[in-house]
Amino acid sequence: MAATDIQAYLQEQAAMTTLRFLTCGSVDDGKSTLIGRLLFDAQLIFDDQLAALEADSKRHSTQGEAVDFALLVDGLAAEREQGITIDVAYRYFATAKRKFVVADTPGHEQYTRNMASGASHSDLAVILVDARKGVLTQTRRHSAIASLFGIRHFVLAVNKMDLVGYDQGVFDAIEAEYRAFAADLGDISVHALPISAWKGDNVTEPSEAMPWHQGPALLPFLEEVVVEPSGGHGAFRLPVQWVNRPNLDFRGFSGTIAAGAVRPGDEVVALPSGVRSQITRIHTYDGDLERAETGQAVTLTLADEIDVSRGDVICHAEHPAQLSDQLAVHLLWMSEDDLIPGRQYRLKSATRTLDCVVTELKHAVNINTLETQAAKKLALNEVGVANISLSERLAFDPFQDSAPMGGFILMDRRSNATVGVGTFDFSLRRADNVAWQALTIDKAHRAGLKHQRPCVVWLTGLSGSGKSTIANLLEARLHDLHRHTYLLDGDNVRHGLNRDLGFTEADRVENVRRIGETAKLMVDAGLIAIVAFISPYRSERRMVRELLEEGEFIEVFVSTPLDVCEARDPKGLYKKARAGEIENFTGIDAEYQPPVRAELVLDTVAMTAEENAEAILDHLRRAGVLEV
Ligand code: ADX
Repeated sequence: MAATDIQAYLQEQAAMTTLRFLTCGSVDDGKSTLIGRLLFDAQLIFDDQLAALEADSKRHSTQGEAVDFALLVDGLAAEREQGITIDVAYRYFATAKRKFVVADTPGHEQYTRNMASGASHSDLAVILVDARKGVLTQTRRHSAIASLFGIRHFVLAVNKMDLVGYDQGVFDAIEAEYRAFAADLGDISVHALPISAWKGDNVTEPSEAMPWHQGPALLPFLEEVVVEPSGGHGAFRLPVQWVNRPNLDFRGFSGTIAAGAVRPGDEVVALPSGVRSQITRIHTYDGDLERAETGQAVTLTLADEIDVSRGDVICHAEHPAQLSDQLAVHLLWMSEDDLIPGRQYRLKSATRTLDCVVTELKHAVNINTLETQAAKKLALNEVGVANISLSERLAFDPFQDSAPMGGFILMDRRSNATVGVGTFDFSLRRADNVAWQALTIDKAHRAGLKHQRPCVVWLTGLSGSGKSTIANLLEARLHDLHRHTYLLDGDNVRHGLNRDLGFTEADRVENVRRIGETAKLMVDAGLIAIVAFISPYRSERRMVRELLEEGEFIEVFVSTPLDVCEARDPKGLYKKARAGEIENFTGIDAEYQPPVRAELVLDTVAMTAEENAEAILDHLRRAGVLEV
């Protein structure tokens, strides 16, 4: 090609629009075959790939002797061995009319997360259905998840029409059933067409076997379909990945542009600080740019020395992101352990990571029927609508305005494993209307008058381990020493403040959260709060520890073995639990997680309750709680 031709070709390519689409279907619906067929019929396979494919087909094919197009697409070795697709594979191809990015995502339920991630990067979903099986649970799941993650255009591809004799009645029935379901997905478009990916019917060319079907084949349809540009409002956003400070004279902010475009001279605002400045230069590895846009990795320098850190977002000054620490969200749960409101997770959005608690689960969405239902927790693969509370204010965009700034993942605090993905719907207005009231008298004043250092002595252990007895003796000893105390005991608090709570995991998490907040208020009042609760979960005890200041939380593990507690059985509850009369009884059919770094571990077999109370008192003396 002459240089001018190449120029012309490149310009043509650059001017073409890109369609990002997602293919979803159950195992064996023929997704990979369809993509392979698209590439093959559009003559997008190179000869050497074809030769390799023929050789491969002989070894792995599930289709007999012919070329198996699925092998072209199923790139990962593991999935070939298992015959299933297990990751999001992005394929890029182009026809004379359009460029395409295909996200090929797995159909298995345990890979829902990959589907969600594929969907949030796509404009359209091709939902494959096997004509012999019709609309399945998975078909509905996939459609609901795709719509949750922002997809507004659906193609229902009824595949394997050759295996039902190209029967129009079969196709019409499936289309009608799907449309009835999709009507509840909100404002979406559905285009249905009958195909055979294996035979090539209606993939790139209209099918002669199905003259009853009007309209373009799949590829021409994808070339023409109009989707609104992704990226929503398109205002500039740079989530800062790191602050580049090689020497005192240079301070640049590096990251990948999440949305919009930027030029030197643009007015920007850094969030959450809200400080404004101007872009001076856009640095890249290949030199300075006059303009940079979504997807480009850049380092920006600003006209003013402003404080910006990793996780902050540099925004267009006139269209900044929103800031909030209380948000309404949609959430897809992906962990074997249920999502429990009140439990802490790590939330990661763009380059920012912070602590997050689901404060209220408003409802779960039944992904098969799209009905909403009341829920106290979310199990694996369940979708819910919730309010969350963050440890600090976060810069975000509602998902519908900007997918990269509007999505987040939730991680387990200890393992950092992803446990959920979600989208920000909106900031709760109450976040703006509740401020901290400054008070004249503070904790130090209150504690000073009592000549003590306030703290929480948190006794944890099995039912019947001796927590209440020891707590009671300890409070009496402190009282004799003229210390100001308050004893919060599980059984007592459950008659009042926590009367509404039972013994499910969710209720126990909430039980401890409320006690933690109450104990914190008591510390603020200058008291020594003694707390005696089973408090079976490490994560909630840790949450209370983090509510308080360093040294204020003294965890005391009343380490009585289960068989000893059961032999003592002061309230006869173990007997009832063994007889099946009480459910979720700690140590019997509910878990107890012993502390790993308690300040004090008490042995109630070798020591008396009095000695143990004295041991806590000794610890308090050593910790300087009593000598102020
Ligand atoms: S916690 O697990 O939520 O911290 P908490 O200390 O408030 O429990 O209450 C435990 C007390 O409730 C026990 O000492 C016992 O008297 C009573 N109880 C009733 N049912 C149960 C149960 N299923 N599991 C444990 N304790 C129970």
